[in-house]
Amino acid sequence: MRKSDEIDVGALRERARLHMEQGAVTEGYTADRLAVLKMLNSALATELVCVLRYRRHHFMARGIHSQAVATEFLAHANEELSHADQLAERIVQLGGEPDFSPDTLLERSHAEYLEGATLADMIRENLVAERIAIDSYRHFIGYLGDQDPTTRRLLEAILAVEEEHADDLSDLLQHVPTVPPPVQQTLGLHAII
Ligand SMILES: [Fe+2]
Ligand SMILES: [Fe+2]
Repeated sequence: MRKSDEIDVGALRERARLHMEQGAVTEGYTADRLAVLKMLNSALATELVCVLRYRRHHFMARGIHSQAVATEFLAHANEELSHADQLAERIVQLGGEPDFSPDTLLERSHAEYLEGATLADMIRENLVAERIAIDSYRHFIGYLGDQDPTTRRLLEAILAVEEEHADDLSDLLQHVPTVPPPVQQTLGLHAII
């Protein structure tokens, strides 16, 4: 009798030849593939909205505190884009199609696209979006469990970066004044913090 930790190589080889057109998706894939694809596409939409919001903020950051913050926004935008690429790649590996359609991007995204008037507003909006992403990824990871370890590991790696992003933003928020100083009318300056 075969011990439970022994693998049936004959059956393994046979199964590998079935549905070869499905590539990485084998008979042993136990997750609900369509549900996983839907989940990955919503994460992709969230990342793409974050890329756009961070990039807008990078170019719109103004004021004496802006330089370090603008640099951080750009770094985050680039990391969100890399997450989007990794998610799209996994979607294709699982036999799906990554949805990059701009028409429905915002409604599929969990995070919002809010412009923010001041530097503090921008940091706050990005922090809120990161916290939304963190909770979404945690939820997806919990849902996957051991059913799809590759997708789960990908999401765990992305989650770790989102947590760093949230931490960076909460540090920045402490160094940027949240109440605008009085407008210096005599100098005709419109102060933007
Ligand atoms: Fe991300
Ligand atoms: Fe992030």
